[in-house]
Amino acid sequence: MSRSRSPARSAGQGSGPGDALETDEIRRLCEFLYRRTGMIFGESKRYYIERRIADRMAATGMRPFPTYFSYAQASESEVEYLINIFTVNETYFYREEDQLRCLGRSLLPNIVRGKKPGDLVRIWSVPCSTGEEPYSIAIWLLENWPMVDAYHIEIAGSDIDTRVLQKAVAGSYGERALSRLPPDVVERYFEQSRDGERRIIQDLRESVTFTPVNLVDKASIAAQGRFDVVFCRNVLIYFDNASRLLAANNLYDALHPGGYICLGHTESMSRISSRFRLCRYEDAIVYQRLEEGP
Ligand SMILES: C[S@@+](CC[C@H](N)C(=O)[O-])C[C@H]1O[C@@H](n2cnc3c(N)ncnc32)[C@H](O)[C@@H]1O
Repeated sequence: MSRSRSPARSAGQGSGPGDALETDEIRRLCEFLYRRTGMIFGESKRYYIERRIADRMAATGMRPFPTYFSYAQASESEVEYLINIFTVNETYFYREEDQLRCLGRSLLPNIVRGKKPGDLVRIWSVPCSTGEEPYSIAIWLLENWPMVDAYHIEIAGSDIDTRVLQKAVAGSYGERALSRLPPDVVERYFEQSRDGERRIIQDLRESVTFTPVNLVDKASIAAQGRFDVVFCRNVLIYFDNASRLLAANNLYDALHPGGYICLGHTESMSRISSRFRLCRYEDAIVYQRLEEGP
């Protein structure tokens, strides 16, 4: 067991001597977070982790690390805090418009073939981070899918990070998040808010629902019911193979047979599970839940 002390001293506000973490302490913390989230934190994150934990030990007064770690393990709200500070939440509107085009041109026409006008179509963005993805789906369909009023479209967003979900519900965004949206779309779906940001108009905000969900926790996924399309983009890259398989199996159960899953650019279901069929559409590659899995 390595006991080398990190040369990096904590520079965080309020942290001080004695807040540096041993290699073994960082490893225990990463293992704990991995078991709770599926995410792996490599050696490259070491300085970041050490700095954030030093700040947290200072803020809670729980130090040294063994004291803090026992406290964190016994407190669900502290675990939630830890998960929230270690997630990577990068996202923006119309992040991959090709996939939205694929949704409107290929996936939804296939899905509604088996439905009657007025029937429910459920679309899930998980993880949704601060909400740009589910709101993008809603806006894109309103703008581009001629059948949008013929069906009852339900769009949901979920994430493990409760802090980003609060932002998603508030629906206020800065320039950077909006930079890919055409100006006329911004005018139609956003209002100016007092802090200089743009806020999604109330009707649209209230039409998208947000719930906390952990992709590697079967029960939390099962509680959301079944969906026709799942967007699970840019999270599997943070998982190891075991977590990817767990998430894939959970999402398989969350899809109606024949339902679709859209992954991020660099992610592939074929390398994770054989329970989905790769579908190459004109606009994007997606995966379809086989009617009956192996
Ligand atoms: C980079 S964002 C992706 C957001 C959006 N899908 C996109 O592509 O723009 C990754 C998100 O995954 C979430 N996340 C990490 N582990 C998770 C888990 N086990 N269950 C649910 N969400 C998770 C993080 O909180 C973060 O908001």
